[in-house]
Amino acid sequence: MQNNAIGKSFGRVNLLGEHLDYNGGYVMPLQIKLGVETKISENKQSNNITIRSNDYDDIFEAYNLESKNHHWSDFALGSCKYIRDKYHIEIKDISIDISSDLPIGIGLSSSAATNISILKSLVKYFQIEISEVELANAAFDVENKFVGVGGGMMDQYASVFGESGKVLYLNTLNNDYEKIPLFNTSTFLIIDSGIKRILEQSDFNKKKDLCISAAKKLKVDFLSNISDIEIIDSNSLNKNEYKVAKHVVTENKRTKNGKDALITNNDKYFGRLMTESHNSLAKDFEVSIDELDTIVSLCNEFGAYGAKLTGAGFGGAVVTLVENDKVSEFKKNIIERYNKAKFI
Ligand code: GLA
Repeated sequence: MQNNAIGKSFGRVNLLGEHLDYNGGYVMPLQIKLGVETKISENKQSNNITIRSNDYDDIFEAYNLESKNHHWSDFALGSCKYIRDKYHIEIKDISIDISSDLPIGIGLSSSAATNISILKSLVKYFQIEISEVELANAAFDVENKFVGVGGGMMDQYASVFGESGKVLYLNTLNNDYEKIPLFNTSTFLIIDSGIKRILEQSDFNKKKDLCISAAKKLKVDFLSNISDIEIIDSNSLNKNEYKVAKHVVTENKRTKNGKDALITNNDKYFGRLMTESHNSLAKDFEVSIDELDTIVSLCNEFGAYGAKLTGAGFGGAVVTLVENDKVSEFKKNIIERYNKAKFI
């Protein structure tokens, strides 16, 4: 056991491949510089686990780790439970202090980043050897099984294996990945719409269930196994299943094409794929909101190569690709027309 242990982890912005990580498709997260730092120290005040976060005013005292409390501290509880059960370590007398500069609930993966930073600090504190793959899997289990939200593995992989200068091109069927450098003459910018989303309360799980039922009816393990939307018999699915299937199949193609665009330095084409992705997320997957659609249109109006919502949708942020020389003028124009917009 160490006196103090610090675990640091970062958020991500997803450039293409939205809602594909629980459908066995390709995703393209890019790690960002904002993140979460968790410090674990001996608890001198109590025998319990005391959890604090700079994002919340209340302090949480955990007496047991058996069940979640529907509270922001659940990620910490779930992580402690994971370490206790897997490594047979009694976890008590510790303070967990979480400090983050990553905005919550805007689609930049604050949940996974928080979770990974807590797990990193716990394994350091208790001097446990853990591989990077186990770290990502552990965070996935805590989020999906204990806290009960979350999609696929994109966010955990982006946090553990990502880099801020390179896109993580991840195949979520087998978690193989490669890292691809960014464009030289254009920049990805993130715009917060000012409308927060709360994933637990959103329709996220409903969308996931629709994808699962569509895949079952089409007799494939995952919708991304289908290479072309034309080969789907639309009569075999109900309208909502067909729409989510259409998004998944076309988005998977866009993501693969996006990889080629990055490699051949074709930022104009990449931008077009981003806007097509947004339109598909809005019209077929139905996870956009008016404010995100407005920002995407404004980005295109002010000369971006393209733009899309990032993360789950239902609010949150937009990512856009803009020529380096145009960035400052572009920012000014967007804020003038949409004054709630905040560049991250
Ligand atoms: C959320 C989930 C991710 C992914 C995205 C959509 O951020 O946590 O796993 O499904 O939505 O791409």
